[in-house]
Amino acid sequence: MDASQARAWMYAVADSIAAQADHLTQLDAAIGDSDHGVNMNRGFTAVRAALDGAPADGVRGVFTLAGSTLVSRVGGASGPLFGSALRALGKALPEEGDADTAALAAGLRAGLEAVCKLGGAVLGDKTIVDAYTPAVDAFEQAAQAHSGDRDGGLAAAARAAADAAHQGMRDTTPLQARRGRASYLGERSVGHQDPGATSTWLIFQALAETVTARRS
Ligand SMILES: Nc1ncnc2c1ncn2[C@@H]1O[C@H](COP(=O)(O)OP(=O)(O)O)[C@@H](O)[C@H]1O
Ligand SMILES: [Mg+2]
Repeated sequence: MDASQARAWMYAVADSIAAQADHLTQLDAAIGDSDHGVNMNRGFTAVRAALDGAPADGVRGVFTLAGSTLVSRVGGASGPLFGSALRALGKALPEEGDADTAALAAGLRAGLEAVCKLGGAVLGDKTIVDAYTPAVDAFEQAAQAHSGDRDGGLAAAARAAADAAHQGMRDTTPLQARRGRASYLGERSVGHQDPGATSTWLIFQALAETVTARRS
């Protein structure tokens, strides 16, 4: 992945979040406070503006800027969590130049660890972690299995991650929330898809679409 691909991914996330903002807010209305779409859209609109105004830095710079922007511009739980993930992803990448698929896998794993550390959630708590964990697992596996591909396995890994995130997102529905606002509802949180897990899927879906578009 080079810096222009990293930027294209962040712009694709901004487009997707903007298109899905109402849906994300509806999901949050059921088990939260009806602001998840607003929070995410505000955050990624700010990310777009920050990247528009920034020099064409390496991949590391793109993700650290995006992450810092989310942390500082989003009030809800999700901004600091996704922001920390992107910052950790950036910091795990080479200081200059591009990131190969293995480096990206390590960076995505570092992002997940940042989310878990900051939010204290574990798998099954009905959060971002429930979509992010299977996505990173799938990314790593597919990256290894497809390392001989012309793109170093990036497209295959991103596709596998998006599919796994989608399943993880769907699997949050029967869970009872144990972290964040939804946990206040106790058993009444059961039967609703988690908003943050849904955004996580959108983010990985945008990655898959970005790297596939570049390859063809
Ligand atoms: N401790 C946590 N760890 C991981 N994800 C969390 C945590 N708390 C909340 N979330 C995620 O944040 C989402 C809610 O985000 P948002 O509505 O933007 O923030 P808020 O809950 O502050 O209103 C939830 O759907 C959940 O996925
Ligand atoms: Mg909310």
